[in-house]
Amino acid sequence: MTATLIRGGTLVTADGRRQADLLCRDGLIAAIATDLEPAPGTQVIDAGGCFVMPGGVDPHTHLQLPMMGAVVADDFYTGTAAAAAGGTTSILDFVGPERGQSPLEALAVWRSRAEKAVIDYGFHMTVSWWGPRFSEEMETLVRDHGIASFKFFLAYKGGLMLSDEDLIAGFLRCRQLGALPQVHAENGELIAYLQAKMLAEGVTSPLGHVLSRPPQCEGEATGRAITLAEIVDVPLYVVHVSAAEAARAIAQARSRGVKVIGETLPGFLAIDDSVYRHADFDFAAGHVMSPPYRPREHQEVLWQALQAATLSTTGTDHCCFTKDQKRLGRDDFTRIPNGCGGIEDRLHVLWHLGVTGGRISPERFVALTSTNAARVFNLWPRKGALEIGSDADVIVLDPARTKTLSALAQHQNTDFSVWEGMDVQGVVVHTFSRGTHLWADGELRAERGRGRYLERAAFGPAYQGRL
Ligand code: URP
Ligand code: ZN
Ligand code: ZN
Repeated sequence: MTATLIRGGTLVTADGRRQADLLCRDGLIAAIATDLEPAPGTQVIDAGGCFVMPGGVDPHTHLQLPMMGAVVADDFYTGTAAAAAGGTTSILDFVGPERGQSPLEALAVWRSRAEKAVIDYGFHMTVSWWGPRFSEEMETLVRDHGIASFKFFLAYKGGLMLSDEDLIAGFLRCRQLGALPQVHAENGELIAYLQAKMLAEGVTSPLGHVLSRPPQCEGEATGRAITLAEIVDVPLYVVHVSAAEAARAIAQARSRGVKVIGETLPGFLAIDDSVYRHADFDFAAGHVMSPPYRPREHQEVLWQALQAATLSTTGTDHCCFTKDQKRLGRDDFTRIPNGCGGIEDRLHVLWHLGVTGGRISPERFVALTSTNAARVFNLWPRKGALEIGSDADVIVLDPARTKTLSALAQHQNTDFSVWEGMDVQGVVVHTFSRGTHLWADGELRAERGRGRYLERAAFGPAYQGRL
């Protein structure tokens, strides 16, 4: 394997920055020092004026997921290639067993789908139903397959939603096994009631989606999940926090020492609920995801939570559908496949709004896009670090470069972008995954199947305390 010397850049980690050169050799970071000289045959990248940072770790993706009568438009090849083009070098995707299906059997299906991945990947397991068999197999998943996190749904009544009784049992099982429970926190009973009410009142358009999922539903469910986890005494990870109510519940719990970790998505920091009032169905439906985009005032609360470390990670919840797929819900908003894209755009949007916009430092950017997720999910320091011996998952970002995000220009396999027309300043110009140059200043070298499966150990840092 060729060695690469990244020269003259500013190295940024979650803890600080310095001017240094970085040598990648045999897939690992081999040296960090000033004025490194390249051995013959070493590729040299001039990173002058640029930031050199750990590749992004996206802890929340759904590739090739069957959902609401459609299948997510990005598979593990197109989705991970798009990720690499945007500076993400590891993902954690969700295995989704059918109701009653063995989670081990479902894992085998996901492992085979993921064989075409371009970057490294691991899995969380969705607890899509509960019973003795699920509970038993969790042990094998943790012990033999490196699945150390399980997601529970408080929403999607009649589908994925679990009762409080089952949530308690599932959280207890996680505690026994040292796994980290995650929650999609929205009150599914209230949403079902409001959906029926909307439809009865003749609201069938995407507007009904946001009207039936008010922020209080998220606040209540987040508070409930935290209470259950606190009493069971297990750490908790709350995915896709969108509402001020949820961020406040997490802040309060953390301030009294509860081990709760919150994730948000770039979209919730910048896109507001006016998108659902748009006259064009494709535009409004293209934004249908759960939880939905919120009124603008929630965005400032989320930014403050990111700054105050109440929220610790960013993911994408990448779950993209084409316009045609979204049209399944043309006459009934409850049938619109839920989800938006973003695996390619997370770093660009967060850098632009956060760092270029003066809200967060480059160090906090690294923590939020890479290091914290790697720590929470027990991948650090192999991932999310610039240390000798870490995987050479490295990006070079040019803070002066600009680009316009759009569906036409993206590598994501869909004809829609929630970021259509957004100009960002700060562009990833190189992405290395285990030393392999996947994104070379606009050229995508996405070798199918080179990604490796990431097994993760139980009793990760979330068990030890604050993150
Ligand atoms: O709408 C969304 N978020 N779709 C993906 C599945 C989930 O709830 O995370
Ligand atoms: Zn969710
Ligand atoms: Zn999701």
